[in-house]
Amino acid sequence: MSATHASGPRGAASANVRSNAEIIEDIPEPPIASAVAAEMPGGVTGDDPQTPASWTDVTIHDVYDARVRIAPHLARTPMLTCRTISQLAGTDLGFKAELFQRTGSFKSRGAMNAALQLTPEQRERGLITISAGNHGQGLAYAASKVGTRAVVFMPRMAVPTKIDAIRGYGAEIHFSESMDDVFERMDEYRLAHDLTFVSPFDDPAIIAGQGTVGLEILEEMPDVENIVVQAGGGGLLSGIALTVKTLRPEVRVVGVEPRGANKIRKSLDSGKPERTGPIVTVADGLAAPFAGNLTQAIIGHYVDDVVLLEEDEIIHAMRLILERMNVLVEPSGAASLAAVLTGKAGIEPGSQTVVILTGGNVDRDKLKSLL
Ligand SMILES: Cc1ncc(COP(=O)(O)O)c(C=O)c1O
Repeated sequence: MSATHASGPRGAASANVRSNAEIIEDIPEPPIASAVAAEMPGGVTGDDPQTPASWTDVTIHDVYDARVRIAPHLARTPMLTCRTISQLAGTDLGFKAELFQRTGSFKSRGAMNAALQLTPEQRERGLITISAGNHGQGLAYAASKVGTRAVVFMPRMAVPTKIDAIRGYGAEIHFSESMDDVFERMDEYRLAHDLTFVSPFDDPAIIAGQGTVGLEILEEMPDVENIVVQAGGGGLLSGIALTVKTLRPEVRVVGVEPRGANKIRKSLDSGKPERTGPIVTVADGLAAPFAGNLTQAIIGHYVDDVVLLEEDEIIHAMRLILERMNVLVEPSGAASLAAVLTGKAGIEPGSQTVVILTGGNVDRDKLKSLL
């Protein structure tokens, strides 16, 4: 077993690991993307239902903007390696360890980026969102940093540790009985209290924030040939894909969904937005009932393939990461490795591949049965 905080699986010297401050100094002056976003209908969230989404709505400049904006508040996550799992997978693996991000998942990147672009009036009133848990934690944390109110609508069966953490950051929680009515209930509350909605995934600020993971991967593993990314509503996948394909178009980007939450694959196949059927997956972070208009447009343009996983494949990968790396990821966080181990991600043997360990907020009550 070797799980090291390295700059890359090839064991590049730690001298190559640059601090956020150094990286930020090298970033070219960003254009006015954030200023444009602030002018959009719906504020920074840009949630104007009248405007059809286009893959051009978020650019690499938005991602560079996001990095500068969020860096003072968030961690630079490590790229881990594990020789045993690399051998099993037949590919030189880097594990981008987003479970060590503030709040235990990458979600705080997008949330922080959105919160930092609020107008003073929006900040005065507060934020509202819907979440299975990790976006709620990210938004609650971000709201506490910018000094605004956060309201999170969640399904009642959400993971208790995620509920506790959201409350711990000072946000208010409203429960709904199912994912089906949670959107409607949230919207009623939003209108009544004039709050700004921050989508968990379908928002230019969220996508650009998640895209910063892509910038870090390219720096930490410069010879990367494949990046495998798990998708719920597709914010992380679209952010990484637009970043990586803009800077290094030859890198293969593969998305991963549980078969029991297959909205993105289904929409790509039919060519129109589709809902997941009855959601059946242990990976609660990937259980979005539909993808976003914007995320789907970006994924359709940039992503090479989206593959489906069975439940036992996700659980097997989660166990392997724990046994071989001493790292406890939540089921959603193990899905990208599962796609590599099963061969579904279609990785060329011997190539260099990054998988994302997206979150570590495990349901403690379910842990025993999962393992
Ligand atoms: C741990 C984890 N991984 C992946 C995802 C998927 O992210 P997205 O909705 O941006 O596709 C989520 C979403 O909540 C998550 O919590």
